[in-house]
Amino acid sequence: MQENINNIKESLVRDLESVNKPQDIVDLKAKYVGKSGCITELTKNMRDLSIEEKKTVGMLVNEVKNYANDLISKKEEEINNAILNEKLNKESIDITLPSKKIKRGSLHPMTRMVEEFEDLFVSMGFTVFEGPELESDENCFQKLNIPKGHPARDAQDTFYLKDEVENFLLRSQTSTAQVRAMEANEEKGPIRIVCPGKVYRRDEDATHSHQFMQIEGLVIDKNISMADLKGTLEVMMKRILGEKTQVRFRPSFFPFTEPSVEVDVTCFKCGGKGCSLCKQTGWIEVLGAGMVHPDVLTMSGYDPKVYQGFAFGTGIDRMAMFKYNIPDIRTIYGNDIRFIEQFDRKDED
Ligand code: PHE
Repeated sequence: MQENINNIKESLVRDLESVNKPQDIVDLKAKYVGKSGCITELTKNMRDLSIEEKKTVGMLVNEVKNYANDLISKKEEEINNAILNEKLNKESIDITLPSKKIKRGSLHPMTRMVEEFEDLFVSMGFTVFEGPELESDENCFQKLNIPKGHPARDAQDTFYLKDEVENFLLRSQTSTAQVRAMEANEEKGPIRIVCPGKVYRRDEDATHSHQFMQIEGLVIDKNISMADLKGTLEVMMKRILGEKTQVRFRPSFFPFTEPSVEVDVTCFKCGGKGCSLCKQTGWIEVLGAGMVHPDVLTMSGYDPKVYQGFAFGTGIDRMAMFKYNIPDIRTIYGNDIRFIEQFDRKDED
């Protein structure tokens, strides 16, 4: 018996030397410790032995079985590790490979325009001021020198709320921010703000939408003159529409500014020569502006003898339509992804 066992051990050690793949391990297990393996065979004739003999043989067989299992599983681990290492070496990641192209989103042209305006004005020392879209008649009209019944209301007398909240409407102009900014300034000191936001009017055609965006500017300080207004607007137009842009001021009328101007820029399509976009005039009207009316200053708590100011308001959609050559304003609000995709970070690539 002992001799048998020694032979088995020796043969196992020899066999192990030539083992080098997982199948060899399977075969080895079958040969030694499997159901009909040679170690299991040793117990075959146990039945004929005495109890004492059974004990000794049992112990010997168990011992050789453990011995075989230990050696085989050690070898199995070695083989598995070798396979894993080989795999890791082969599969090293090539970090120089180009990555898969990830589809990036794009900013809506309105967001982009608003950010452009904000960056510009913040760089000139303005702060961004926001006001609500639902506004009182008082802030939208009365405190801007447009009392009830004033003809200037006609073009903007639009989306009012029903009885419960009488005299509230969707703001028709961002000029409401002038009132709000002046009233919010408790010291009644200098102000420099821009207020971008949505406004609502009873309009609907290719160049007018019932909802559009404006940006309002307001500067209040001592010794503010028309020259400050002109300088600021010239910088704004050149930055937004290109350095070649020329700016022209025409006298106009707004109830909340005196004097008032309308501002034209040279047509960016023809550069001022005259084309269908500018109706052969070479100029395109882009904004309204003026010196804040003394009554407007007074109504919001400023002394017009001490403080002056200028204000301007322009349509952001209109600017975007010119800048990006968008023929129909309604596409800006249509949420058609094919429209928005055309602004896919073009100028950043
Ligand atoms: N709120 C005016 C408009 O919507 C524009 C404007 C703003 C005019 C500020 C003068 C001063 O037409």
